Amino acid sequence: MSTLIDGKAQAARLREEIGRQVSRLRQHDLITPGLAVILVGEDHASQVYVRNKATQAREAGMASFEYRLADSAPQGKLLDLIERLNHDPEVHGILVQLPLPPQVDETRVIQAIHSDKDIDGFHPLNVGNIATGSSGMVPCTPLGCLMLLKHRLGELSGKRAVVLGRSNIVGKPMASLLLREHCTVTVAHSRTQDLAALCCEADILVAAVGRPGMVKGDWIKPGATVIDVGINRIEVDGRTRLVGDVDFAAVREGAGAITPVPGGVGPMTIACLLLNTLEATCRQHGIPFPDDIMSLAWGGTSSETT
Ligand code: GUN
Repeated sequence: MSTLIDGKAQAARLREEIGRQVSRLRQHDLITPGLAVILVGEDHASQVYVRNKATQAREAGMASFEYRLADSAPQGKLLDLIERLNHDPEVHGILVQLPLPPQVDETRVIQAIHSDKDIDGFHPLNVGNIATGSSGMVPCTPLGCLMLLKHRLGELSGKRAVVLGRSNIVGKPMASLLLREHCTVTVAHSRTQDLAALCCEADILVAAVGRPGMVKGDWIKPGATVIDVGINRIEVDGRTRLVGDVDFAAVREGAGAITPVPGGVGPMTIACLLLNTLEATCRQHGIPFPDDIMSLAWGGTSSETT
């Protein structure tokens, strides 16, 4: 039986430390980090995510600004709002919840956000910085996954990593981050052949495909570390359940460690959003990013149960 990687506990510790740093910023520097979250449309899952992000920002002592636009909102309205927030000194981070309705060009919207306020790390400047190994804002979900991996494994250098999924939000930045850690990385996707054999070679397997239970027990190298990014809503006996991309019960048997769903990657994603907002605030005000929080983010005490 494998070790459970407790993302909920690790995220709680990180949020606590972020809260301490926010209160220090507010008291010593009279600066309140501000996060603006924009939701276009009525998508239920997006509404839940946005509510959680705003709530946790407030709980960490940040200012939270929420904007809700109708599903039919023209692109120009969203771009005008972003332009206003780009110039608002009380807003240090801007997040536009994805996906967007079809009349809105996602690429155009992402590029409209000032790269200094792009706490999602989706702006091409930030993407380029990560891809070239420079420092830049790192997308929250892959950042959270990397923290869980480093916390569990320490040094990642030389490990074979397979990333399932090639999205701009998770798969591609995850691969960049693992490469930066000197892993040997393969990105697999819907057209990859013999996925099972490929996964069987992975010391680290990150599943981010959005297909419930796709990763099977016999795809796992014994002792591998499995990070399940999937959050899929399925109906079981008339009830909605959240499950990951990994067949948890079966994979747990052979893996060395695995993240549960819920309680694994999800909480880390929001904690990393707060971390990025804090970092953006410090950078915009020329304040060094506190060392305490970096050591907690990348090391810290154990958050695992067997
Ligand atoms: N939709 C799903 N994940 C994310 C995310 O990390 N950021 C944004 N902006 N939208 C998302």
